[in-house]
Amino acid sequence: MVGVKPSLAVTIGKLELAYPTLMGSGCYGTGEEYAPFADLSKIGAIVLKSVTRLPRLGNPTPRLVHTPAGMLNAIGLQNPGLEWYLERELHKYAGRPCKLVGSVAGFSIDDYAYVCEGLAARDEIAAVELNVSCPNVASEGETFGCDAGLTGQVVRAARATTDKTLIVKLSPNVTSIAEVACEAEAAGADALAVINTVRGMAIDVETWRPRLGNVTGGLSGPAIRPIAVLAVYEVAQRVKIPIVGQGGIENLSDALEFFLAGATAVSIGTGNFTDPRIPERIVDELHEYLARRNLSGLDEIVGRANVGFATPYQYEGDEG
Ligand SMILES: Cc1cc2nc3c(=O)[nH]c(=O)nc-3n(C[C@H](O)[C@H](O)[C@H](O)COP(=O)(O)O)c2cc1C
Repeated sequence: MVGVKPSLAVTIGKLELAYPTLMGSGCYGTGEEYAPFADLSKIGAIVLKSVTRLPRLGNPTPRLVHTPAGMLNAIGLQNPGLEWYLERELHKYAGRPCKLVGSVAGFSIDDYAYVCEGLAARDEIAAVELNVSCPNVASEGETFGCDAGLTGQVVRAARATTDKTLIVKLSPNVTSIAEVACEAEAAGADALAVINTVRGMAIDVETWRPRLGNVTGGLSGPAIRPIAVLAVYEVAQRVKIPIVGQGGIENLSDALEFFLAGATAVSIGTGNFTDPRIPERIVDELHEYLARRNLSGLDEIVGRANVGFATPYQYEGDEG
């Protein structure tokens, strides 16, 4: 069978995406900043920066530290608050040539429901992601995503406010991410984003002080990729809803690992800081990869990692 034209379209809940690539919350602004460098029509969706009920100044500086193969950040959810966001910001994003996903953060169950309802009511927002996993505001309250029961309560409360697609973004900073995933699914999540950043710390050996103003931060980039691939794999064994895999994706090979582990779509965050063309390149090369293997779409690779003692997949292509 030669000449199959693979489709890269994916459906996440009710969210239909032309491409299986999302831009990670907090890493792509609103898209405007990237428009001069990247073709926004060549990506599936932008997940916007997380919004809270009230405005937040964020954490004291420094907020970013470079690390080998990644970075530590402790932004602290800086944002103008829901009211300002809805009244003065959101209308500017209409007309982006890709879908927009709103991201909700909060400090109580009621916060999550309130902000979710506010965002989901707007036409500019195609779906909502619940960030129950930000590691950089833990001093202000519970990280909801570190407790399966609390995650369930947050998702249930947010679910009651909207029929739009609800994605729940999970934390890797737990004993069993699959357990939290199951609670989120049972509470009505349409999809899961796996994973948010991994907690970390760096110390300046001259001053003996922590290198982040917040003392601790969240590690992202290639350094966390194997952790993220395993998390996707473990979650995929336990849930039926789609997974948006993320953590250190920089090229097609990285993205393929996530698809094979069980992700329906992938998200690119930190990679955009070094090369804004990564998402476009992944889409072009993914198309080529599927076509070369006469595969009609992503469903032919999602969750197909050969584990155990099965005969490994053998590609009998070019090298003939
Ligand atoms: C500077 C920075 C800011 C971030 N802000 C948010 C945020 O506001 N909400 C959120 O859900 N995730 C946030 N994240 C997490 C990313 O969306 C992503 O899930 C994580 O960094 C792992 O993917 P990556 O290695 O491709 O960056 C942020 C990450 C970075 C590096």
